[in-house]
Amino acid sequence: MKDKHLTTLRMIYLFGNWKMYLDLEESVALVTELCNVKLPTHEYVTLGIFPNPLAFVSVRNVFKGSTFFLGAQNVGWTSKGAYTGSISAELYKNAGATYALVGHSERRYIFNETNEAVRKKVEACLDAGIIPVVCIGETQKDKDANKKEYRLKKQIMKVFEGLSLDRKEIIIAYEPVWAIWPGTPCNPEEARDTHELIHAEIAKYTDTKVPVIYGGSVNAENVEQYLSLNGVDGVLPGHASTKIDTFVPLIEHVIGLFRANP
Ligand code: PGA
Repeated sequence: MKDKHLTTLRMIYLFGNWKMYLDLEESVALVTELCNVKLPTHEYVTLGIFPNPLAFVSVRNVFKGSTFFLGAQNVGWTSKGAYTGSISAELYKNAGATYALVGHSERRYIFNETNEAVRKKVEACLDAGIIPVVCIGETQKDKDANKKEYRLKKQIMKVFEGLSLDRKEIIIAYEPVWAIWPGTPCNPEEARDTHELIHAEIAKYTDTKVPVIYGGSVNAENVEQYLSLNGVDGVLPGHASTKIDTFVPLIEHVIGLFRANP
């Protein structure tokens, strides 16, 4: 299903969320391999990697001068001070982060992160000059109880209500929790309808253009079906971004789509 020609896109994002799949040595090895492969680039494709906090600086050092941007997987909402175990958006900014994931479903549902905590983290990122990539998405339970729309609208409201963007950027990642690997990938019709709903809902709170990217079992084989949809401004693969054999074909495939439609 193709809703649009890819050239109608201005910018798309391809962000690899490495979660806690790789230790320090494995993260450095993967990033070194990525730098050794002659990856294609395209001015409209923004590539980003989100390593774990222990690996962040080492990955940054290997990546220096590359086309990849770096992101944090999570941030604390305070700045500097007596906050044992926390890493603030400000510290990540100092260390070279451009982006930060906020409110990933694994943070929300495994570590009980509330909408209120997510909002504080969004504000902390904006204050620190980091672009928050705010994850929203319904669980299977929400879906079964016909609460998908309610859940998404509430998560969006909690992020945007009264939020001053003032020319600052923010990205939303729609990640249906049931589609996260090894879950069932979302079918393109549902992804398209949900992205439409999310864009319409965000427009109630801000005039700023907010990209909405898709995540949930994205790989080289299915990425085109998502990027061809109206309202899908990029993808956030997790599992498929953690191995050279699956990440490189994914990057090559995405950039190939743009090269084929210059
Ligand atoms: P997945 O992860 O690609 O492994 O499903 C996506 C995510 O949770 O960010």
